[in-house]
Amino acid sequence: MVKICCIGAGYVGGPTMAVIALKCPKIEVVVVDISVSRITAWNSDQLPIYEPGLEDVVKECRGRNLFFSTDVEKHVAEADIVFVSVNTPTKTTGLGAGKAADLTYWESAARMIADVSKSDKIVVEKSTVPVKTAEAIEKILTHNSKGIKYQILSNPEFLAEGTAIQDLFNPDRVLIGGRETPEGLKAVQSLKEVYAQWVPEDQILTTNLWSAELSKLAANAFLAQRISSVNAMSALCEATGADVTEVAYAVGKDTRIGSKFLNASVGFGGSCFQKDILNLVYICECNGLPEVAEYWKQVIKVNDYQKTRFVNRVVASMFNTVSNKKIAVLGFAFKKDTGDTRETPAIDVCKGLLGDKARLSIYDPQVTEDQIQRDLTMKKFDWDHPIHLQPTSPTTVKQVSVVWDAYEATKDAHAVCILTEWDEFKKLDYKRIFDNMQKPAFVFDGRNIVNADELRQIGFIVYSIGKPLDPWLKDMPAVA
Ligand code: NAD
Ligand code: UGA
Repeated sequence: MVKICCIGAGYVGGPTMAVIALKCPKIEVVVVDISVSRITAWNSDQLPIYEPGLEDVVKECRGRNLFFSTDVEKHVAEADIVFVSVNTPTKTTGLGAGKAADLTYWESAARMIADVSKSDKIVVEKSTVPVKTAEAIEKILTHNSKGIKYQILSNPEFLAEGTAIQDLFNPDRVLIGGRETPEGLKAVQSLKEVYAQWVPEDQILTTNLWSAELSKLAANAFLAQRISSVNAMSALCEATGADVTEVAYAVGKDTRIGSKFLNASVGFGGSCFQKDILNLVYICECNGLPEVAEYWKQVIKVNDYQKTRFVNRVVASMFNTVSNKKIAVLGFAFKKDTGDTRETPAIDVCKGLLGDKARLSIYDPQVTEDQIQRDLTMKKFDWDHPIHLQPTSPTTVKQVSVVWDAYEATKDAHAVCILTEWDEFKKLDYKRIFDNMQKPAFVFDGRNIVNADELRQIGFIVYSIGKPLDPWLKDMPAVA
């Protein structure tokens, strides 16, 4: 029986390994982590992450050929294939701070593999890493090898949160990079055989190591770039009376462009787009390519501009002040169907409104009060470190209350900001909400999910990203 061990039981390690265990009943899969609370949760009925379909997969395999453990060293020592799926945050201090990837967790995982291994192993980079990381890992392993042979593979993950299980069941492609030596090719083949249990062979791409590592950064950069492109257009639409949904539809009809990932929004969030682009920018700079670095940096700048623009719209529309006004925030997660708040645009928008002294009443169906308070008090980039290393925040933001119902959040509010596209926000009784709000009552739709005409009929003043402006908003221009 082949034994797989995955270091890192996070958003990637957990679901990915659960699907491998489901599809390959003859493989024993153990997911290990230094976080005791995470492993305890994986072994309980309350999984540590919310992901549609995940619970069913875990329930079917856990205890059969899928195990979660904190005994990292034992399971790494026993494994034939070791996946490394630890976090790779942006560095906060020292060389490359604010841009370069912090490979502390990766390096300590690699050193631990070297320490405990007693048999040859295939080590698979699952985390998103800078190009050439495999070379660094190889050096750590071979300099401490005690005669053990290692093959390093790059097998980046392309799943998106909220659809992780579907993405893993039917991936657009699986990418495996390896050394072009007989041993390297053999290792690639071994990993290919795992995925071939359920993925058609022509969708399993094999490349050299550096192409696989770079393809992951490139794919995220291209995806984020599409959002910044449509968001940049949304500003121009508001200025000209064009409708960004119509423009995106017309543009996306061109088969060379395609229709997906063209939804204008308050900005993209999530743990990876910003981190991976900053990392790409840093790699370009280190390779003497400042123009290329500048090009990709612009994707982040437009995303920041979009969040600032949204806050300015809110404040400008409400007589240029939100001081002491109650603003209901609907949605805090970075997208629907996840409880993940990492780099969610809601953090910057809420901080912007708090900077103007607003009182916020926040409701998200999947995010806890504790998480929201931590997010609003934490410094940039600190979130991507294990919880025990995160600075504790003894203070809470007093102007923020977190409630468990959209109607409670909007009661007596002056404005509603929709920051996550949860389906339930489309179905709310907006007449009831309007009746219980201060007047004039505003809706700022950062996800373009409400029917603005219907809400205007009720009496709301409505702002939708990239749509023709309400006459009220035209009279109160926001300076970005
Ligand atoms: P995560 O923070 O949810 O999980 C990482 C886990 O690794 C944590 O539980 C942490 O405790 C553990 N860990 C860190 N060092 C360890 C060590 N030495 N030994 C054992 N455990 C250790 O992160 P994630 O979202 O799963 O992302 C992991 C990687 O995958 C990142 O590089 C990310 O860029 C990439 N990625 C993420 C996604 C996503 O949707 N979240 C998608 C594709 C790729
Ligand atoms: C993204 C990629 O889609 C995955 O392929 C990749 O594996 C992953 O990053 C990663 O490396 O972590 P994820 O961040 O989970 O996945 O979610 P997305 O669906 O890509 O959404 C990212 C952000 O963009 C969200 O805030 C979402 O609301 C926003 N978005 C997305 C838009 O504003 N408009 C769109 O048209 C699409």
